[in-house]
Amino acid sequence: VVCAGYAQGLDLLFRVLARAGVGEVALEDPGHRDGRKNAEYHGLKATPVAVDALGIDVGQLTDTGARAVVVTPAHQAPTGVVLAPQRRQALVEWADACDATVIEDDYDSEFRYDREPIGALQGLAPHRVALIGTVSKSLSPSLRLGWIVCPARLIDAIAEAKYRTVHFSPTLDQLALATLIESGRFDRHLRRMRAVYGERRRALVDAFAQDAPEVQLQGLAAGIHAVARLPDGLEEQDVAASAGERSIGLYTMSRWRAGGQTRPPQLVVGFGHLSEASIKRGIGTVADLLRAP
Ligand SMILES: Cc1ncc(COP(=O)(O)O)c(C=O)c1O
Repeated sequence: VVCAGYAQGLDLLFRVLARAGVGEVALEDPGHRDGRKNAEYHGLKATPVAVDALGIDVGQLTDTGARAVVVTPAHQAPTGVVLAPQRRQALVEWADACDATVIEDDYDSEFRYDREPIGALQGLAPHRVALIGTVSKSLSPSLRLGWIVCPARLIDAIAEAKYRTVHFSPTLDQLALATLIESGRFDRHLRRMRAVYGERRRALVDAFAQDAPEVQLQGLAAGIHAVARLPDGLEEQDVAASAGERSIGLYTMSRWRAGGQTRPPQLVVGFGHLSEASIKRGIGTVADLLRAP
């Protein structure tokens, strides 16, 4: 089902699951901030489940009453870890055991710089996983085009919910995207942008290594943001506020944590829209704020 980006894909799935009697959904913690608000809007209880170095903690998920979970397996948003093979297996086993739905947010899987992107979770269990894709990162968020690849048992309800809300997504925009894909230009664009973003990430890694070596960059060589672990003793809000006074936008991890905790001190650093020179200059401008007290 073609939809208006990830946002509408998630909304349609939550709408349909709530109508089908699901009462609780699990969300990654830390995770995309919109998920909880969207779930609550549909009367669903949103339960945060911890993410560690292997991705979502499926053991903790099993202890909840959730019958759906939203995950970012390719590149966890925002910590940047990949969902480990054993966790993928465990997640599908959990979903099979309690007849649950796994919602796979595949938002930036196109951008992996060190190796080929890992396969989608949806391919492992098409009967359990509803994958939501989007062109927001690969082309532009203003296009509002995405897609849901959903289990057969949900397709009629999803199509009906889509029809009830907006009937269909803009046809001309879809035709333009189809032309881009069929002509091979979309693939060429992805290959080019992978190189561009890969270089920007490399500039970020180098800038931290040179100007703020106590900061540890975490997560995969992927996507268009990275997570910076600050030295102990620094407060993430203080660092972000002081950087803001110098016109450098850094975001605190607390914004993505369900309970708003500020420890361990981490920053989420976007680099997709910045030139390599700006990245170097930006980190240089705040380097003194990134040293252990
Ligand atoms: C975690 C996550 N998923 C998906 C998206 C894409 O959302 P949309 O397709 O609605 O623009 C974003 C955009 O920032 C995001 O951060």
